[in-house]
Amino acid sequence: MYEATVSAPVNIACIKYWGKRDTKLILPTNSSLSVTLDQDHLRSTTTSRVDESFEKGDRLWLNGKEETVKEDGRLGVCIKELRNWRKIEEDKNSSLPKLSQWPLRIASYNNFPTAAGLASSASGLAALVASLAKLYELPQSPSELSLIARQGSGSACRSLFGGYVAWREGSKEDGSDSLAEQVASREDWPEMRALICVVSDLKKGTSSTSGMQRTVETSTLLKERLNIVPGRMEEISKTIKSKDFENFAKITMKDSNSFHSVCLDTSPPIFYLNDVSKSIIQVIEELNRSSGEIIAAYTFDAGPNAVIYSLEKNIGKVLGVINKFFPQAEESKDPFKTKSEDLPESFNQNVVRQGGWEKGSVKSLIHTRVGDGPRTLGKEESLLNEQGVPK
Ligand code: DP6
Repeated sequence: MYEATVSAPVNIACIKYWGKRDTKLILPTNSSLSVTLDQDHLRSTTTSRVDESFEKGDRLWLNGKEETVKEDGRLGVCIKELRNWRKIEEDKNSSLPKLSQWPLRIASYNNFPTAAGLASSASGLAALVASLAKLYELPQSPSELSLIARQGSGSACRSLFGGYVAWREGSKEDGSDSLAEQVASREDWPEMRALICVVSDLKKGTSSTSGMQRTVETSTLLKERLNIVPGRMEEISKTIKSKDFENFAKITMKDSNSFHSVCLDTSPPIFYLNDVSKSIIQVIEELNRSSGEIIAAYTFDAGPNAVIYSLEKNIGKVLGVINKFFPQAEESKDPFKTKSEDLPESFNQNVVRQGGWEKGSVKSLIHTRVGDGPRTLGKEESLLNEQGVPK
């Protein structure tokens, strides 16, 4: 049986990708940089199988639901490119089984609810690409595979590595130099923690894909941002290599605010932050001020959820303020069982609106840390049964 099961991590950017210069190839208007989160806590798992006896045509299931694979759609393009790379190997070596000619069955599963509002496209696409690369025994490096994952969803290319990852915008028209590479490994700076605050949101927001296109078409502020990001990429890479949390945090918060500013400068404007998100910003700023040093950094993607980066030694203080001002309705996920610490003495509680936030304005917390890249799993973890449909 020819099958491979792989899991891949979620990543959260510190320097945001927002804007495409080529929408078909998914080439960005700027480089970006992210931290890969631990797959022990958040992951997508994908099983890919080929079999000569399968009925013609590829089939794919996401979280148990069958999806149609359009040939020129994002998934279809990723599958086609990886199949081509397999074909090249088969042409070079005639003793290889002709896996590239056989129908595929693919099942993918996220261990976190889509309702949590966490982007699943990055980990999902990365798991798909990594599992097909394993199944086809491709010789390409993770950076080369990132060229394919990028065409599934831009941010997915960064999930092919663990640790601290840059997606270089590249300059070639064919996109062959727009790829991800590791800036530092998890082991280089293992103390990094992430606290995801799942903020309640009933509205269906603007998707990243359409939102960023609107920004490219209408925002004048984006041009300013594009002048600033290259310097920020350099600086933040230095802070990671020297484990300089204060400056890492400063740049991370500044870039999140810059990204949400260009959203506001888009016509019609895009609002991803809600009042709870903004209150989290004020609380973290005040925590940093009253601590006499920067111990936490907030960042927000295309939605109201906050991700707060902090070091292991300070995460108890972050939990302290979040739990005090944003009581959660649902049980939180904390594999570290960290205790909340008291507020710093000089913390000015007036930064939070009078009466505080009602229970559930932050639904739940997920406490995790920096993690490794895609993992190959054993047969017992397969998502497909003998017939090649999800178990
Ligand atoms: C705000 O990667 O989801 O999370 O390439 O159109 O699939 P597409 O967009 P996507 O955009 C992610 C945007 C972001 C910032 C980031 O992750 O860098």
